[in-house]
Amino acid sequence: MRCRILLVGFGNVGREFARLLLERRSELAKIHGLDAAVVGIITGRHGSVERARGIDLRKALRLADAGASLESCGRGVHGRSAECIRRARADVMIEITPLRIAPRQIGVDHIVAALSGGKHVITANKGPVVYHYRRLKEMARTQGLGFRYEGTVMDGAPVFNLFQETLRGIRILSFEGILNSTTNLILSMIEAGRTYEDGVKSARHMGLLETDPAMDLEGWDATVKACLLANVLMGGRLRPEQVPREGIASLTSKRIEAARSARKRMKLIARGWREGRSVKASVSLEAVALDHPLASVDGTSSSLVVRTDMLRELQIIERQPALRQTAYALYSDLLAIRDGRLSP
Ligand SMILES: NC(=O)c1ccc[n+]([C@@H]2O[C@H](COP(=O)([O-])OP(=O)(O)OC[C@H]3O[C@@H](n4cnc5c(N)ncnc54)[C@H](OP(=O)(O)O)[C@@H]3O)[C@@H](O)[C@H]2O)c1
Repeated sequence: MRCRILLVGFGNVGREFARLLLERRSELAKIHGLDAAVVGIITGRHGSVERARGIDLRKALRLADAGASLESCGRGVHGRSAECIRRARADVMIEITPLRIAPRQIGVDHIVAALSGGKHVITANKGPVVYHYRRLKEMARTQGLGFRYEGTVMDGAPVFNLFQETLRGIRILSFEGILNSTTNLILSMIEAGRTYEDGVKSARHMGLLETDPAMDLEGWDATVKACLLANVLMGGRLRPEQVPREGIASLTSKRIEAARSARKRMKLIARGWREGRSVKASVSLEAVALDHPLASVDGTSSSLVVRTDMLRELQIIERQPALRQTAYALYSDLLAIRDGRLSP
């Protein structure tokens, strides 16, 4: 089966997905019967191109890594990105533009344009899903199209696949997790004697820092993820702006020292819980005891502890993820759609 992919966003995640596709193309064809080709790439400032026979990804990667325009990779595409997406001749659109905190955002326009133009949608962009989950899911369902978003929380580790597909009928009572790799890496590095600035530099070097660093450092990314889990898995109706939030920007070495002498570790903890009929969430910087299930989650690792009615407590741990794990989330969503599993 031929699968024409349109990439919207060709930054850290888009490029890593392109590398993964280059490595796995023959396996995709042989084992999964999927002849996947990227037929279009849309970016913000580095040009947008299409090529029906498939874009040369090696060339696109070379150009993008050098910060050059992609326009020599195919026919240039001009005009509003949403309109280009609607018109594009592709089967699947992968939306990986930057996170924004607002109900109106370009990522939503991209997803709506793809669905109304008959394309399946895969995204690792949390913004559209946290604000418009119900609407986008319903729009995809009525059109018989895929809408998958595994990469929005904990990269490629199965969170939505697990709770929406595998553990059918289970009720989540509450969750707590370390969901932001950047802040966890910085906290671990400060504990090991390095500076806050060293931590930010490492996260940037690894391609983990959000396009706007405040999204990570001021706790927005973790808050959006907490709301996303609460809205998608617990039926909540939360908006990130309304949720109590703390980041790590205000952290002092005194607070770290106090935690250390109390045999505790500083962690940015995201929570979701039920209160009567409503669902609540919060993100806070806390000193956790060493025997807490999240205390040993170090570096870029992330973890989610979920309390449920049937299986009591489950913990998912993703050890030291990097960009490949997010690219894998897109890849596994692609295979799910290929298998007819249109939404988790
Ligand atoms: N990095 C991670 O580890 C990670 C993990 C999980 C999820 N995510 C999510 O994945 C998404 C992408 O992250 P990233 O690290 O790849 O970001 P990034 O490196 O900043 O890349 C963003 C890409 O989007 C393009 N873009 C920006 N505005 C656009 C617009 N209006 N129309 C079309 N393209 C536009 C940019 O093009 P220009 O550069 O030309 O402006 C760039 O190619 C984000 O939503 C992020 O939250 C990232």
